[in-house]
Amino acid sequence: MFETLKPQPEDKIIKLIGMYREDPRSEKLDLGVGVYKDENGKTPVMRAVKKAEAQLLAAQDSKSYVGLLGNLDFVDAMRELVLGDAVSAARISGAQTPGGTGAIRQLFELIQMASPDATVWISDPSWPNHEAILKHLGMKIRKYRYFDDATCQVDFDGMKADLDGVAAGDVVLLHGCCHNPTGANLSLEQWAEVTDLVLAKSVTPFIDFAYQGFGDGLDADAEGVRLMAGKVPEMMIAASCSKNFGLYRDRVGVALVMSAESAVPLTKGALASLNRVNFSFPPDHGATVTAMILADADLRADWMAELEEMRLNMLELRQGLADALRRETNSDRFDFVADHRGMFSRLGLTVEQVDQLREEFGVYMVGDSRFNVAGLPKDGLEKLAKAIASVL
Ligand code: LMR
Repeated sequence: MFETLKPQPEDKIIKLIGMYREDPRSEKLDLGVGVYKDENGKTPVMRAVKKAEAQLLAAQDSKSYVGLLGNLDFVDAMRELVLGDAVSAARISGAQTPGGTGAIRQLFELIQMASPDATVWISDPSWPNHEAILKHLGMKIRKYRYFDDATCQVDFDGMKADLDGVAAGDVVLLHGCCHNPTGANLSLEQWAEVTDLVLAKSVTPFIDFAYQGFGDGLDADAEGVRLMAGKVPEMMIAASCSKNFGLYRDRVGVALVMSAESAVPLTKGALASLNRVNFSFPPDHGATVTAMILADADLRADWMAELEEMRLNMLELRQGLADALRRETNSDRFDFVADHRGMFSRLGLTVEQVDQLREEFGVYMVGDSRFNVAGLPKDGLEKLAKAIASVL
């Protein structure tokens, strides 16, 4: 039977990981997949995670199943981290999922269960896996303009014009902060305008929230999401702990659904059933570690301090690269790198220029010229800027 399989389209981010690994050059530079790295090029286990894991190892006396919705302390702590007190907890249904991607997948399936004909609108560009999962599920997809290649800022007029075409009952997927792949984010005023549009058109917002704490700070990054949550009747959020807790491989995520209180029992039942048919119980370890950190004042303070160090480090690298590019290109063409937020920006290079950077200089970035800020070498910004300038 397996001879009938067709080759699957490769995810361009995952493909890049393999190409980088196979490159024998010692001078190579990985600016591909969105993984935080410190100045030694290491992706650290965060201090609070190490401490919580040690406590868990000492205290855990069973590995028996927890429940289909996962660790409910984790789910509730994540609700609070994401939404603060913007909405009453009684209106939220939540399920622990394997990573943020797991949450996206479960929520897309929830949309299918609730409204099989709904179209999901995603930004153009967006994280490639949004489109891949929607296609895999056979769901209807539309794209709205988001990024102006000329200014490297949000094309808000284009976005509004395209979203004017949504139909009641459609779903609009937004990036909560740190837009992936562009790094260009909606201002709070723009969030307010999109909220008005969501209300006027009776569509449901879906927030992909994978980088809370990587942009302007834990609460600042959630401002737009909270503003919208305070006004709209329904909302879905897929939140990830891969980046802000550094728990990438442990697969820690949560699917949150905001609805009328009366719809909560049905929603929780649907989320539990989706977990059951897809993988039964979500993986416990990372979620329990996260719940322990968020519940303990000392661990939480230490986690927040380390997350803040990471955020500031990325901002410093952004500024450093923008300065170096200004010198090397004798222009302000790349100044936007310092203004963008989160792990990524797109340099606005052609595929050929991206290929040339990889082939000649061993610099790996995604074909649309998205680069991972955290992969930038603090002591090699000048050299990188020279390489970039040389392919222009
Ligand atoms: C990325 O965009 O690089 C990250 O979200 C990792 C991934 O799974 O693609």
